[in-house]
This record gives sequence, structure tokens and C-alpha cells, in this order.
Amino acid sequence: MSDPVSIIRAARPSAAPRLAIVLGSGLSGFADSLEGATAIPYQELPGFPLPGVSSHRRELVIGHLAGVEIAVLAGRAHVYEHGKADVMRAPIETMKALGAEALVLTNAAGSLRADMPPGALMAISDHINFSGRNPLIGIADDSRFTDMTNAYDAGLRGRLKAAAARLGIPLNEGVYMWFLGPNFETPAEIRMARTLGADAVGMSTVPETILARHAGLAVAGVSTITNLAAGMTGEALSHDETKAVGARAVGDLSRLLTAFVSEFAQ
Ligand code: HPA
Repeated sequence: MSDPVSIIRAARPSAAPRLAIVLGSGLSGFADSLEGATAIPYQELPGFPLPGVSSHRRELVIGHLAGVEIAVLAGRAHVYEHGKADVMRAPIETMKALGAEALVLTNAAGSLRADMPPGALMAISDHINFSGRNPLIGIADDSRFTDMTNAYDAGLRGRLKAAAARLGIPLNEGVYMWFLGPNFETPAEIRMARTLGADAVGMSTVPETILARHAGLAVAGVSTITNLAAGMTGEALSHDETKAVGARAVGDLSRLLTAFVSEFAQ
């Protein structure tokens, strides 16, 4: 019994999450809102990575939110930690194997738009992979030629927008550009990103979207804007700021995710 699905089923025989949610920097507290939850440390799940970032937990939590069973991946590993583009492959494929229909990816991001300040939320409409890395490298069959036309599912995004409107939470929409990191971008890189059509920049999410589309999961993505991107304010950027603003915005994001999930109740 060494595969993650068997271990999860041993811990929670009824496990059948409809949705899986990956929590980004500073957002781990959301996992605490699940009812009747089963938490399994990543270290007990073969292939699950141990994130080394200070603001990330390391456990899978399955429980109910608004009457819907969901799986929360509290903590993601980033490609910049060890250079492995497919570091999140096991968690994502495990979510698919458990029967999840969709993967909701959250992250902290820098904004390229002055009208989308720290604390704002942005539904990801599309992405630009600017890392030169790809998590599907090494897959030897034709499944690697994964279609990315509707990588961020329009139907799921519509549900996010409807939930935000119901709650009175402003929800922006835009293109997320993946920089490998771990250093923040230079002001010149940010000007380039804007020219190329990005609205926000960050160091995660894109490889997970690619893995999820490869696995056949629909994807929704929400960025918490933690700062205006490099060069936009004259201030230096820091991970402390990412964590602090992420933590402040977690209330809005939690309410948005809860309302979004509740729509899956039957
Ligand atoms: N750049 C990249 N990643 C980030 C940023 C940023 O400005 N803010 C939070 N994550």
C-alpha cells in the first residue's frame, strides 16, 4: 500500500473530493475552515514534495466546505526550490485519481496594473510560461502535446465572478506570467512583461496548470496581489511583504472560495 491514493483511502475511506485547491503563499489558514477534515502530512504520501518556503504548510486536508467535499493542498513546492518543473505532479495526479473534477490554484503575485493594488484578487484568464521550463518533459507519449487553448476554464471563471459579485468582492481578471524566480523581477523585466501582455507576475501556478491539463482536470486560478511589481513604486520587494499582504487578503479569498465551492453542492 505505497501509492498516495491507497494511503489516502486508508485514512479516509469515503474520500471523493469534487474539487482540489492548492493554497499559495500565506494562504494556508484556509485549510482550517474545512469540517470533518482528515489531514495527511505530505511526508506520508509518496511523491508529494516538501515545500521549503516559510509561508507554506505541508499537508493534504480533505473535508467539507459548504456541504461539498474538497481536497486542500496546503503548501506547494516551487520549481525554483530544486529546479524540478514537475515537482507537483504526484499531488495533481493524485487529485485526478481521487475523482476531482477541477483544480483551483491560488498564488501570491505582483501586479503590473496600478488599478490592481496590493490586496486585490485576480482571476487568471490565461498565462505566459516565461520560465523556459516544462513539467511534461520526459513524458514519452502523445499526451505530452497538451492543448492549452482553454487552460483556465471559462465556466469555472464565470462561477468565480458570480460568487465574487454576490459577495461584493471586486475580482479582476488577467494574464499571469511565470518567472522562475526565486529573485523578484527587475524593473526592465516588468516593462517587458507588460509589453508581452501580462497583468501579473509570479513564481508558481503555470507548471501546475500544465500538469492539471495534462491530467484532464479543469483549472481555475486566483492570484492575491501582494505588491505592485518591481519598479512601479520605487520600493524594494520582499517575501515578508508577500506573506503579510497575503495573510490580510486571506479573508476575502476564503469567502470567495467558500462561495465558489458552495455552487458545487447538489
Ligand atoms: N514577482 C514574482 N512573484 C511574486 C511577486 C512579484 O512581484 N509578488 C508575489 N509573488
